[in-house]
Amino acid sequence: MATARVGATVERYPAALIVLHWAMAILILATIPIGWRMGDLEPGPLQDTLYHTHRSIGVTVLALAVLRLVLRRTLGAPPPHPSLPAWQRTLSVAVHHLLYVLFFLVPILGWAGTSAFGAPIVVWGLFELPPILPRNEPLSELLLGAHGLFSQTLAGLVILHVAGALYHAFVRRDGVMQRMLFGRTG
Ligand code: HEM
Ligand code: HEM
Repeated sequence: MATARVGATVERYPAALIVLHWAMAILILATIPIGWRMGDLEPGPLQDTLYHTHRSIGVTVLALAVLRLVLRRTLGAPPPHPSLPAWQRTLSVAVHHLLYVLFFLVPILGWAGTSAFGAPIVVWGLFELPPILPRNEPLSELLLGAHGLFSQTLAGLVILHVAGALYHAFVRRDGVMQRMLFGRTG
């Protein structure tokens, strides 16, 4: 596996992984609150739009996750920041791994649950994804329940992850944040 470029003091993630990190972060931070809100609305055009938007964002996250995993394995990434104590290193690597698992699990459960419910998945109004399961309402409830549970897990991990990143950026100021940013080296 190739290693990332070594800067004067900061070993950054490869540019493509930085772009994908922020694109996926924006999409996930948008689609979680949409998911929380859309079920509470009155049936109608606004609710339909939010469901379509939620599904379209989710499918985009899944596609970007495939690309990110491939690039992560081919381009490589810097090893944990040298200033991290062992427990933080273990925790951040574990959180990153779990996030990667959820990038796939959460949208696939959404896709499977929506297929079993029998609703169409029209991606950005452009094309329809084929169902991956036949219509089965009890199964759909189970799968969408699991989708909800794992999306809350994702939200919890994101809070932990962002808290850690902000702590490094503003309290420790140790260069961990710069690893995921473009700009000056150091
Ligand atoms: C939904 C939101 C987010 C998700 C899902 C997410 C996910 C991830 C993942 C999976 C990694 C590991 C990258 C890899 O090894 O390939 C990572 C790294 C990183 N993220 Fe995020 N991230 C999110 C938001 C943020 C935000 C808002 C910040 C800053 C405030 C941030 C700062 C960082 C930094 C600095 C790293 C590099 C950590 C290191 O060098 O060990 N992330 N993120
Ligand atoms: C990373 C991608 C995704 C995230 C973070 C996400 C997140 C969420 C969240 C937070 C909820 C609300 C759960 C609750 O209140 O219990 C939700 C509900 C839902 N999501 Fe997603 N979702 C994603 C992808 C998808 C995809 C790809 C689909 C379908 C193609 C989908 C279909 C649904 C449906 C139908 C519901 C409503 C479930 C119900 O009312 O029981 N989601 N999602």
